[in-house]
Amino acid sequence: MTIVAPSVLSLDYSHMEKQIQQLNESEAEWLHFDVMDGHFVPNLTFGTDIMKGFAKSSRQKLDVHVMIEDPVAFMDSFYEAGAYNYTFHEEALMHKEEIAKLAAHAHELGKSVGLSIKPGTPLEYLKPWIGKFDLFLLMSVEPGFGGQKFQPAVLDRIRTLRKWLMEEGSTALIEVDGGINAETGKQCVEAGADVLVAGSYVFKNDIRKAVHSLV
Ligand code: DX5
Ligand code: ZN
Repeated sequence: MTIVAPSVLSLDYSHMEKQIQQLNESEAEWLHFDVMDGHFVPNLTFGTDIMKGFAKSSRQKLDVHVMIEDPVAFMDSFYEAGAYNYTFHEEALMHKEEIAKLAAHAHELGKSVGLSIKPGTPLEYLKPWIGKFDLFLLMSVEPGFGGQKFQPAVLDRIRTLRKWLMEEGSTALIEVDGGINAETGKQCVEAGADVLVAGSYVFKNDIRKAVHSLV
């Protein structure tokens, strides 16, 4: 079954309690936290204190996606705040040995760790990291904002990555993020995705029904 990860970036914070309750009654297994620093992407969101609130009130596993210049500095605090998985961007780290160190550090802590690339970053950049990460997050929009249009070019990238994972015997998950709705979600799953992140589609519709249409 597909793992659905609603992105709380699109949650209506004026009706937070009600929406968290609906999420808890939905089939969503993960909640997705888009952490932005105003530098790596031109937008600002939240940090660990806000996520701790969700850790108390939500039944889902907390899936953190940091779009920040310094993913090294914040990994430990997100795990301590209750993150199940911490995904950072390949583009954020100039020195590639830092990527290896961060993945190894997460595994020393017994945690799940993911690596993400933007739509314009060659897929080949992920290849050396197969076997070292639990999850690969392919962006299907330019990171920074919810509500953007799905870029279908991600479908071929999902197929290729699925092939590479099979060839290497990796059980890593493929997650897709950006412009996901019932139609684009189905296309991603058919191409080989395991986890669908969905923001505006889930929160601008009936939460339980929208999640159900993605499972
Ligand atoms: C974009 C974020 C996404 C975003 C998806 O930078 O990483 O997780 O919330 O939102 P929708 O589903 O509205 O495209
Ligand atoms: Zn995201």
